[in-house]
Amino acid sequence: MTYDDIETPAPLVDLATVERNLAPMQAYCDTHGIRLRPHIKTHKIVRLARRQAELGAIGITCQKLTEAEVMLDSGVQDILISYPLIGPQKARRLAAIAGNARFTVAADSALAVDTAAEAARLSGAEIGVLVEFDSGLGRTGVVTPEAALALAQQVVATPGLRFAGVMTYPANEATAAFVARLRPMLDAAGIGLPMVSGGGSPRAFHMHELGCVDELRVGTYIYNDRAMIGAGAATIEDCALMVIATVISIPQPGHFIIDAGTKTLTSDPAGPGNPGFGLLVDYPQAVIERLTEEHGIVSIDPMLPTPKLGEKVRIVPNHVCPVSNLHDQVLVRLPDGTLEAWDVSARGCTR
Ligand SMILES: Cc1ncc(COP(=O)(O)O)c(C=O)c1O
Repeated sequence: MTYDDIETPAPLVDLATVERNLAPMQAYCDTHGIRLRPHIKTHKIVRLARRQAELGAIGITCQKLTEAEVMLDSGVQDILISYPLIGPQKARRLAAIAGNARFTVAADSALAVDTAAEAARLSGAEIGVLVEFDSGLGRTGVVTPEAALALAQQVVATPGLRFAGVMTYPANEATAAFVARLRPMLDAAGIGLPMVSGGGSPRAFHMHELGCVDELRVGTYIYNDRAMIGAGAATIEDCALMVIATVISIPQPGHFIIDAGTKTLTSDPAGPGNPGFGLLVDYPQAVIERLTEEHGIVSIDPMLPTPKLGEKVRIVPNHVCPVSNLHDQVLVRLPDGTLEAWDVSARGCTR
């Protein structure tokens, strides 16, 4: 199969670019004594998780239990679920796989710790717990060091659980300030702080500057996207996944329609200063102004070069992770130029 054979819309991953993105991150972590634990949410592909481990990752991060179930096929032996698991269904599901790898889960409540404890009891396997704190995102995570200490104490007092340390997303200056307050409290309680896990691709290569991050969870760095370009952390050449679409209609000059809508590109924005729903690589002045499910409505200055009807166009998605989630397979361009279809096995894993 070659580029001309591609039936659109389709995500196309360039493996050479993937390799160019993976190696420097591993080298950076090795240089700074940071353990790399890539987040598979970006690619959701078993072979790529295996490749990240081959290059030196200490394990992987999954957001959901069902992603972890799929990723066990990669042979990776150390899995963090960076998401609070709450309730008996989750405890049973975690217990069913807990003996197949070394598992750690995030917790920001007593109930999440109880859920992990129940999974440990049911499975007989030890489960690590990372207490999650908020570094300003306003999502999950305790907001005071006192609350983090209380959860750490609960973990330490619970049979079957191992206090693995603390985690946050994204890691930033607030992370360092929080850790600076928490560490002496944990020391005074005789618990200590085994590890700080931080995440986020845009600032990944600056993590060592925070002086407290022991483990790095990054996902987007494997493919990059328009938001990474907007953040100054990547260029178009670093974008390994592009959506290939076809111009299916040109109703009037300055206006054309592609066969990629929300079902292909998602409706995620790219952030301030980057209008539209993706970057048309060969027509950078064009703006994908609106999406319906199957249509992308593009405007461009009619005086500028415009694609022809039937032409294939390449699009860098605004946010690449949910684009992976929309596709059963990606086409992968191998170093010899041939294309292969790879299963996105952990797509749709919402549980
Ligand atoms: C908890 C957590 N850790 C790590 C990551 C990876 O972040 P990035 O894709 O910016 O590398 C994410 C991304 O959403 C996340 O939610």
